[in-house]
Amino acid sequence: MCDNCAIPTIFAGMSTTIDAPEQVIIFGASGDLARRKLVPALTKLDADPRPPTGFSVLGVSRTPMSDDAFRAHLSEGIPADLRPAFDRLAPRIFYHAADTAKRDDIDGLAERLDVLPGAKASGRLFYLSLKPELFPLVVDGLGASGLLDAWETGEGFRRVVVEKPFGHDLTSARSLNRELHRTLQEEQIYRIDHYLGKETVQNLLGFRFHNAIFEPLWNRHHVECVQITVSETLGIENGRGGYYDGTGALRDMVQNHMLQILALVAMEPPATMAADAVRSQKVEVLRALRHPFRVDGSPSLVRARYGRIDRVSGGKDVSQAMACGYLDEEGVADDSETETYVALRAHVENWRWSGVPFLLRHGKRMPERYTEVKVQFHKPPIQLFNQLGQAALGTEAAAAMARENSHARPNVLTLRIQPEESIELSFGVKQPGNSMDMTPATLNFDYRDHFGGTSPDAYERLLADALLGDQTLFLRGDEIEASWDYADAVRTDWLSSGGLPILTYPAGSWGPPESESLFGDCHGSWSRG
Ligand code: BG6
Repeated sequence: MCDNCAIPTIFAGMSTTIDAPEQVIIFGASGDLARRKLVPALTKLDADPRPPTGFSVLGVSRTPMSDDAFRAHLSEGIPADLRPAFDRLAPRIFYHAADTAKRDDIDGLAERLDVLPGAKASGRLFYLSLKPELFPLVVDGLGASGLLDAWETGEGFRRVVVEKPFGHDLTSARSLNRELHRTLQEEQIYRIDHYLGKETVQNLLGFRFHNAIFEPLWNRHHVECVQITVSETLGIENGRGGYYDGTGALRDMVQNHMLQILALVAMEPPATMAADAVRSQKVEVLRALRHPFRVDGSPSLVRARYGRIDRVSGGKDVSQAMACGYLDEEGVADDSETETYVALRAHVENWRWSGVPFLLRHGKRMPERYTEVKVQFHKPPIQLFNQLGQAALGTEAAAAMARENSHARPNVLTLRIQPEESIELSFGVKQPGNSMDMTPATLNFDYRDHFGGTSPDAYERLLADALLGDQTLFLRGDEIEASWDYADAVRTDWLSSGGLPILTYPAGSWGPPESESLFGDCHGSWSRG
């Protein structure tokens, strides 16, 4: 073992001998993501007896700070139940102040890494939690200092995790891919979409390809439409106004997280679970996405922003701070045209899905926080049951209820992704009695009831995979370009058609009623959680 592999360090009164083969280097370490997500996730991984364990962590940012000050800063974000695990990891957490845009600073970083546990021989995972414009600069610097060379020289691995946003349109994503490829091989690049780290998102693959019963139904012959919702109660807080106003709901959530969910729902079965087998199938779906307006000219998109809360119209009661409209938020331009809500009707133009609408909806400041996928099957071709009898039509209310119950309802498979983690299948059952009346019922599976506890945080799984070298849950370059291509086409359409009007919905409401028109001939309406 090299001299530097065993370093006694003191933190919180503990003395530990370190044997840490891998190094996780977090750029932007004084930021919120490192403290709130990355370090808690690394703490959990370190406490897990399964690999990867035994890494050290080096935080890098411009703020001057000692190792101990950095540990103290991080420990504030550690929940009480993780504290013993954090205290065990803390002696292997270090800090290095550097301006990574400066070549000399990167050389200094290389020297520091060489005296940390594992030194040159260790695998190194560079995590870029930085402003996107710094990604190529930092990667170029790391490359020029030889910090990414091991790929060729056979030392430990050298990998780079790139946070979102990965570009803001197809052109910028392409050029970022090109810039990263100047120094890195595709196998070294781990582009994050944290939704892929969520258990229930991964289960979309497991559910589809480990159970043979649904797959024969999973196509245009049996599915009427697919509804994907990401509804958030959050607005634009924590100083995000500046970023968000230049981004909007389509680019912040639909282009990445929602299209990933769509791809997992619509993709063909991969031949194996190898990263490229899975990602190639997702790319095929993304490339088959049909852009709105292009085929029959019918509207397939609604965009809106939240206005002030309107308690009269059913807006939820929220604190005063949450009651303001988007245009009142800090950092948002007075003449902003940015949407906080988007609903669209996408089509996957391939053999399996042609003609099946994929209805996507995302909004901020909605009444409930939830993410779900609803796969709605066709109704029976003829209605044998629940015929309207004259007797039921006595009063107007009875008639309305009878009419409502009389419809055969489509079976719907609901895959709840968060916060509830469950699967529900709706179907009709005969109501007990002397007549043949059918009534709605459901079959339910709930993760928490079944497995107990809560699912691990997405970053835990993603960091583990990046350390283990599994790219399945990370985006490949062509995948990200295909999703930007679609998002750009949506934007081009709304900009070029004389500007699709931006509607307003009261904060705390379900969004503009105009979205319902996207269902067209499909039965049903947008879900309400
Ligand atoms: C981020 C978006 O990528 O995802 C945020 O930038 C959004 O605007 C967040 O709130 C949602 O993530 P989650 O995991 O809370 O659903």
